[in-house]
Amino acid sequence: MKKSIKVWDLFVRLSHWLIVLLVASAWLSSEFGDAEFKWHSWNGYALFVLVLSRLLWGFFGSTTARYRSFIKAPKSAFVYLQDMRKGKEAEYVGHNPAGGWMALMLWLVLLAQAVTGMFSSDDVIFDGPFSFYVSSATVSSITGIHHFLFNLLILLVMFHVFAVFYHQYVKKEKLIEAMITGNKTLSNANTDLKLEFRPFYFAVLIVAVIGVGFWLVLRSYT
Ligand code: HEM
Ligand code: HEM
Repeated sequence: MKKSIKVWDLFVRLSHWLIVLLVASAWLSSEFGDAEFKWHSWNGYALFVLVLSRLLWGFFGSTTARYRSFIKAPKSAFVYLQDMRKGKEAEYVGHNPAGGWMALMLWLVLLAQAVTGMFSSDDVIFDGPFSFYVSSATVSSITGIHHFLFNLLILLVMFHVFAVFYHQYVKKEKLIEAMITGNKTLSNANTDLKLEFRPFYFAVLIVAVIGVGFWLVLRSYT
């Protein structure tokens, strides 16, 4: 029997779609027009604060947002992928074991992308705020890593979106709607689980503390 239950809290959903928008605008701003890197760098700082906050939410957030509920032994991710190949994978209330690892990889690559950006330079107009603390050879290597990480990010995002579309259109599980409304329609998963939801203002507090902390660091060291 199909049942619709709330699975994603507001912060998980909002941070996801903001991350998507910010990644798109980080790319657009680096490709077109943002000659002084103003937009690109502030955009990167926003991503840094948001991703770091979501990583903390993995400890303090709602049940489905916590690592405990979606980071399983790597073996279970492989078993899940094998079952998926046979078309008989189990349904999950939150992230499936492969999706959980993918989410973690996406956040870590995004974080590394933002941090390397802060040490990067275009050698003409803009130097990242912390690039003055390292040698110019290091800046040029880190800038290379900044480029490489973006390609890696795009590759991961392609796998991610492919997997989401597979569930959405082949398996007819409405994962995209769930990431928008928070409610997921489940047919086989255990829907009697007791899910706890943390209030949104708690997430706002985390974002505010990290945001102000980061801004103070930027102001003091640059
Ligand atoms: C820059 C592009 C993207 C990035 C970096 C990204 C990253 C992520 C991350 C980190 C999660 C885990 C969310 C959490 O637990 O807080 C996630 C989940 C999800 N994303 Fe994306 N995403 C991207 C694009 C998209 C697009 C274009 C779609 C749909 C059209 C999409 C649909 C979803 C869905 C449905 C989930 C939940 C999956 C599940 O039920 O396990 N994402 N994404
Ligand atoms: C997660 C956030 C970020 C993303 C997704 C991102 C993405 C990109 C992309 C796609 C490029 C162009 C690469 C190419 O042309 O192949 C680029 C270049 C660059 N980014 Fe970022 N970036 C981010 C954060 C930052 C931050 C926070 C800063 C600095 C404060 C920064 C500084 C730079 C610089 C200086 C370049 C030019 C490098 C060059 O000319 O070789 N980025 N970034």
